Amino acid sequence: MTMTEAVAAPARVPVQMTVNGTDYAAEVEPRLLLVHFLRDNLGLTGTHVGCDTSQCGACVVYLNGESVKSCTVLAVQANGGEVTTIEGLAKDGEYDPVQQGFWEMHGLQCGYCTPGMIMSAHALLKRIPNPTEEQIRHGLEGNLCRCTGYQNIVKAVQYAAGQMNGGGTHDPANTADWERELAGKSDS
Ligand code: FES
Ligand code: FES
Repeated sequence: MTMTEAVAAPARVPVQMTVNGTDYAAEVEPRLLLVHFLRDNLGLTGTHVGCDTSQCGACVVYLNGESVKSCTVLAVQANGGEVTTIEGLAKDGEYDPVQQGFWEMHGLQCGYCTPGMIMSAHALLKRIPNPTEEQIRHGLEGNLCRCTGYQNIVKAVQYAAGQMNGGGTHDPANTADWERELAGKSDS
């Protein structure tokens, strides 16, 4: 004779948070990760999942002003908090300077790492407005890219620093120079 055991549905708990300026409320399983809440419950799929070991950084978002890997945070831990995702960076139809930097400097190839890379770069520039190349590379150590070799990502952040602070290592006028350099036609 077979026996059927009733399996209780996982308990759900209420969460509410503000994401990109909009208030959301939901009931979720306590084990639900913030990254899955953003992607699956809210449909904000710009935040990516690139690993299951908390190493790739594709999932970086701001939580209460601090950049976090949203695969390491439970949705309930963000309860009452304020989240900004990659979808929340552009304002009034204009790219944020870091997004613009990745566009101008071709800081991406497949683009999978890019949302997390941009969020981490954004947080880095809040901490260090005019970082050196070494500081940029160190600041992005928690973000992995399997395509670019990182050179153009560094340039993208330098471009953004110039845009945001008027005094980065490079300024927008150098874009043409960099294009020549990338094409192997550097003047020097
Ligand atoms: S998905 Fe979060 S670090 Fe890789
Ligand atoms: S652009 Fe492909 S992983 Fe970074």
